Amino acid sequence: MGIPDEDVAQVRAGTDIVALIGEHAALKRVGRRWTGLCPFHTEKSPSFSVNAEEGFYYCFGCQASGDAITFVRATEHLDFVDAVRFLADRAGVTLHEDAEGGKDRKRRAGLLDAMERAVVWYHERLLRAPDAGPARDYLRSRGYDGEVVRRFRLGWAPDEWDALSRDLKLSERVLTESGLGFINRRGRAQDAFRARVLFPICDPSGRPVALGGRILPPRDGASAAERPEPKYKNSQETAIYAKRRTLYALNWAKQDIIAKGEVVVCEGYTDVIGFFQAGVPRAVATCGTALAEEHFTLLRNFGRRIVLAYDADGAGQSATSRVYEWERRHEVDVVVADLPNGSDPGDLARQDPDALARAVADARPFLQFRVDRILGNSDLSTAEGRARAAEAALTAVAEHPDDLVRDQYVMALSDRCRVDAPRLRERLEHLRAHPPPAPHTRRTRSGHDSSTRAPGGTAAEPGDPGEMREPEDEDWEDARSPSRSVAQKGGPGLEALKLAVHRPRDVADRLQSVLFVDALQREAFTALMEHDDLYDAIAAAPPEVAGLLRRVTVEEPLLGDPEFGDPVDLVVGVLLREAVRRALSELEKASRGLEESWQTGAAVTAQVRQGLAELEDPACGRAAADRLVAWLMEREPKEG
Ligand code: UTP
Ligand code: MN
Repeated sequence: MGIPDEDVAQVRAGTDIVALIGEHAALKRVGRRWTGLCPFHTEKSPSFSVNAEEGFYYCFGCQASGDAITFVRATEHLDFVDAVRFLADRAGVTLHEDAEGGKDRKRRAGLLDAMERAVVWYHERLLRAPDAGPARDYLRSRGYDGEVVRRFRLGWAPDEWDALSRDLKLSERVLTESGLGFINRRGRAQDAFRARVLFPICDPSGRPVALGGRILPPRDGASAAERPEPKYKNSQETAIYAKRRTLYALNWAKQDIIAKGEVVVCEGYTDVIGFFQAGVPRAVATCGTALAEEHFTLLRNFGRRIVLAYDADGAGQSATSRVYEWERRHEVDVVVADLPNGSDPGDLARQDPDALARAVADARPFLQFRVDRILGNSDLSTAEGRARAAEAALTAVAEHPDDLVRDQYVMALSDRCRVDAPRLRERLEHLRAHPPPAPHTRRTRSGHDSSTRAPGGTAAEPGDPGEMREPEDEDWEDARSPSRSVAQKGGPGLEALKLAVHRPRDVADRLQSVLFVDALQREAFTALMEHDDLYDAIAAAPPEVAGLLRRVTVEEPLLGDPEFGDPVDLVVGVLLREAVRRALSELEKASRGLEESWQTGAAVTAQVRQGLAELEDPACGRAAADRLVAWLMEREPKEG
């Protein structure tokens, strides 16, 4: 099930690697390269680098390296063929593979295409159709103007059985596999969404993959009983939509998340839009599921401060102890927005947009938020009240994995509840040894009826192992360190390799493999010279050599300042001197004690030293260099 090499090359050429990696990590332009925090290991300062022109990435921290295909294989868990298909999809390249192989790819492409058309169709309907009048009124009443409707591509699903499937002429298969519709009991195609305002859910690059649909509020006089459906209905999971790996609005928010290093996570579509309206365009929402570890894996590459903007009480109950675990594992800070009690970000955005922005700015660490909340809801004026408050707060404190952090809270609690700190510590140790069972109740929001929630909307339970991409092993980083020193080795040899990759024409006749003293660097250079194409050289090279080659593609040559002379001259000069000195000392060692060869040796040595001296001379430097290189080449053991 092969894909022709020309197709693979075309896919590579058609892929913008910076945009691709940019969906997983924040990249900044530095000269001709792009750098950022490595998406493959946890780090605080950027050691990940991408060369856009050559299409390679390299991490100086963990030595992860590769091209667009390697990247997709690692991040999307695909094999080579599927990774190429994935990229072909994005780049719009048609692969000439056999029917069986292309089927899956075509299927996904078909679903994406159907989703896009449906989003356009529903959007048009909302903007223009007479039957969408009540929906437009409703959105207007929520403060959504045309700009909001267009930016978020909102839609209206008419109150009809099959308007969409009829109009778009979707095949039964596409209709059902995309989740846009289903075949009803009478064997007829039926739309999944009916009489709902639609919120398109996109992948990070902005392609619609699913929909969330909200009913209109019951009209005056109509009783709630006439509307038994849930308030929101969301697309089922499909081949293009996995809830736990999707965040609503990430495609619109990512730019600001990257710029601010902060992301606001809220509960619903309307909350996200509220934040955008309040001037905080970095909000995302989970799509009808609890916040899961996959969401962190996705987010931490964009921003390291994660602001939970759930309804105040909800945040305390949501992910609880796993949050600390994720904080530590992903090196993120999870803080909680200080929303006024019981308020809904979507509504607050209209009433008091500044309060919403302030709530984000004043966000507090997760544990502090929980403790404050518990104390705030307690009666601290009586002895009994203080004791109860201390006990409840300690239960929250006990979940924190760091003893120093716990102790800070113990002291604060001791102060506020007037209980002896040692007594609290004793109690805390007891709580840690016998943790109370975790409450599995789902958060509810005041004013909203959570009993109508679609049953499929609560997939994630705390404790779900989930599909984690993150290395579980804490020593992961260290486990890779031995090879680090090797690749970190630089010097003139590395500079020369960079020049060979980045300015091949300038170095064409000047660099020779004999100039490389380091065996690995020499091998890399030889590989470059033996192949016309960088990709071929890398593909044919052993892993260590391939890694080095990828590294040099993401590094720009140093010494770019013309004030210091031509960088090629400089690098060749340094390399040559190093190589010649080494050869000389070998020669002297070998001829020591042998009178005759010493004689000839001495003559050679004198000539070589003369050559070295002439290297500095602008008039004859080039000629001297050529002679020295020739001499070095003669000394090379002949192969075969
Ligand atoms: P909320 O009930 O808090 O709704 O649900 P909301 O976002 O504030 O929406 P408005 O302001 O009433 O219009 C929060 C999220 O929970 C999911 C949806 O993803 C929703 O955005 N949900 C809610 C469901 O999946 N099904 C439901 O029936 C209700
Ligand atoms: Mn709301």
